[in-house]
Order: sequence, then C-alpha cells, then structure tokens
Amino acid sequence: MKIEKFDETTSTNDYLKSLPDPTEDVVAIAAVQTGGRGTKGRSFVSERGGCYLSVLKLFPCRAEDAFTVTENAALAVCHTLAAFGADGRIKWPNDVFVNGKKICGILIENTLSGDRIRRSVVGIGVNVNNPIAPEIRDVATSVREATGKEVDLDAFVATLVYNLYREFPHEEYVAKSLVPGREITVVKPDGRSYRAVAETVTTDGRLKLVGGELLSAAEVKINL
Ligand code: BTN
Repeated sequence: MKIEKFDETTSTNDYLKSLPDPTEDVVAIAAVQTGGRGTKGRSFVSERGGCYLSVLKLFPCRAEDAFTVTENAALAVCHTLAAFGADGRIKWPNDVFVNGKKICGILIENTLSGDRIRRSVVGIGVNVNNPIAPEIRDVATSVREATGKEVDLDAFVATLVYNLYREFPHEEYVAKSLVPGREITVVKPDGRSYRAVAETVTTDGRLKLVGGELLSAAEVKINL
C-alpha cells in the first residue's frame, strides 16, 4: 500500500480516481480540499483541521457484497472515534453521528469488472479540530467539540487508516446503527413521505421496515 499526503488538493476521491493503472492500494490524505465532494452531488466543505482521506482498494470483494465496503468504512470510523474518546453511531447507510450530530461523511465510488468490484474508492471526511460554522452547529459536531480536547490529527488519521484495513461483522454495524427500532420519516424520490418503524439493516444494505418493506439507500431519504 502506498500513502500520499497533500497539503491541498481538490478532492482525494478525484485524485485516486484519476490514477490510470494502480498496481497496489493507495491512500490519499489532504489537509485541505478545495473541491471536496459529498453524496448526491453535494459539495463537502473541507477546512484545515479536519481529516480528509480516501483509500483506493483493488478488488475488495464481489459486486453483490458491495455493502461490506460501506459497513467496514463506517465501523472503521466508529472504532477510530472510540480510540479518541467519542461514541460514534451510524445513520444508515454511512453517515456517522456523535451526540445526535453529524461528525463524518463517507463517499464510496466503485468501478465494477464483471461480478467483482475492480476498484473501490472510499472517501472519508471527519470533523476533527476544524471549526463548525455557526449555521450548522445544531446539526454538525467535531471530535474536538465532542471530547473537549484538541486532537492529534496525524494520530487520528493513522488510526483510521489502520482501522480501514480491518473487517467487522454485520451485527456490529446493526448494533452501532441509529435507525433500527426508531420511528422514521421515509421520503421517496417523488417527494411522498410517510412514517414507519425501522426494524433492521439487511446484509445487502437495505433498510427493513416493520411490516417487511425493504428500502434501498439510493431510492429513499430518511429523517430521524
Ligand atoms: C457526505 O457526507 O455526503 C460524504 C462526504 C465525503 C467527504 C470525503 S472527504 C475525503 C473524500 N474526498 C471527497 O471529495 N469526498 C470524500
């Protein structure tokens, strides 16, 4: 595995996706991103003090097991937060929250080859010591805010890279999830919404509602 560090880049995901033909896994870490990207085409503000990294994994698993990449990434973040004194919980499918506020977002971009994932770019942005803008303080937090301490960012990044090469059981993902057992609002792409109780998350990454309905993350948005 190769590690590349940048003081500034547009997006660590974009950098890894631009590599023509990597022959080993590559981790890209940036102090600042000028074009950080989030899910659903959103931008991701990436100010100095946060942890912005992506790992390019070659042939991580079969395409049908793609959700294991999501689970392992979210749990790697939770284990890293725990090592620094914060209790991370997962909002399905892959946001991590502490004290009810978002602390981390994950953007996974896979390239398929037949029934395998050929390359998986797992991008992770964690608020560590970076300031949280006043207008989002009620919905976002940082490790520094949650623990009351300035964090050693290099140690945080190194711990996260280590944890990204561990594998965690599906049961741990469910146990750390905020959604199962909760009443939620399901919002469909056409804007229709309804209340339902979430039962669990399946091994293929769908949210199962009490009553049996299965929802895929690409199809719905949920509000807790
Ligand atoms: C989200 O919350 O919508 C996902 C945010 C993912 C941000 C990370 S930061 C490192 C990597 N590079 C990017 O451009 N995005 C991901």
